[in-house]
Amino acid sequence: MDTPTQRAQTHYGGAGLMAKVQAALAAFGPEETVLTVSQLAMLDQFHTRGMLATGELAEAMELEAGMAVLDLGCGIGGPTRYLAANYGVHVTGVDLSPSFVDTARYLSQRCALGDSTTFLTGDATQPPVADGSIDRVFLQHVAMNIADRAALYRAIRRVLKPAGRFATYDIVAKDGAPHFPVPWATTPENSHLRTEAETRDALTAAGFTIDLWRDDTEVASQWFAKMVAGGPPAGPTLALVLGADFPAMMANLARSLREGRIGVLTAIASCR
Ligand SMILES: C[S@@+](CC[C@H](N)C(=O)[O-])C[C@H]1O[C@@H](n2cnc3c(N)ncnc32)[C@H](O)[C@@H]1O
Repeated sequence: MDTPTQRAQTHYGGAGLMAKVQAALAAFGPEETVLTVSQLAMLDQFHTRGMLATGELAEAMELEAGMAVLDLGCGIGGPTRYLAANYGVHVTGVDLSPSFVDTARYLSQRCALGDSTTFLTGDATQPPVADGSIDRVFLQHVAMNIADRAALYRAIRRVLKPAGRFATYDIVAKDGAPHFPVPWATTPENSHLRTEAETRDALTAAGFTIDLWRDDTEVASQWFAKMVAGGPPAGPTLALVLGADFPAMMANLARSLREGRIGVLTAIASCR
């Protein structure tokens, strides 16, 4: 029987992803063209409200140039690159999927951010970095794939420095199950949503103090409505990563938010 981690790995397998991405980026010019983080945003910001949400969470987490940041469950590295490009920090992205990690490295080179980003294959519940070595941990739309929240938040607490902070932006359970498939799971077995209260309890039990706690469900619903009204975006999008089910996944996510089945939580916690 597969573990939740193996099932998440299969869901985000990304077979042949690098070749698809390389082909799609030809739209921006020859291979040696240096790309910007904004150009890639529809492709590599793999969460509700895209680069807008990354920017808001980055502002709230009090970054300083030179800090060591860990982006857990980094996907193909959109948020990782955003932080490195805008805040002068060094960001290590960690993801379960080797093909995501390879694609993330390639995209960082294309954006001339190879020196300020590092990508490693690994499990967020056992991050492959030294204990007490990280100033900020960033976790966007990943926890819903992780069943053992106690292990996740304990691991984050462990790798942070004493003055470290943890920033998260994730989907939470509200009233009923989401409609499947959603972007993080095709079936309920791969979805490990927790309520806001359960999330807060798990963070507190891991030794965190909550600095910011915000329900972003309504703002996320409004964003989906605007996206639909605006029609399909130009250029490479997340559909490349998620495949044929992408439209159904996005529609189910928007509908589940609208119906109050699930929510979007922003939280910042510190080690104090
Ligand atoms: C919805 S994507 C979000 C990617 C990225 N955080 C972003 O916002 O663009 C979820 C990512 O979490 C990764 N993931 C899921 N479970 C994980 C785990 N236990 N450890 C590391 N990565 C994990 C998946 O491989 C996938 O890339």
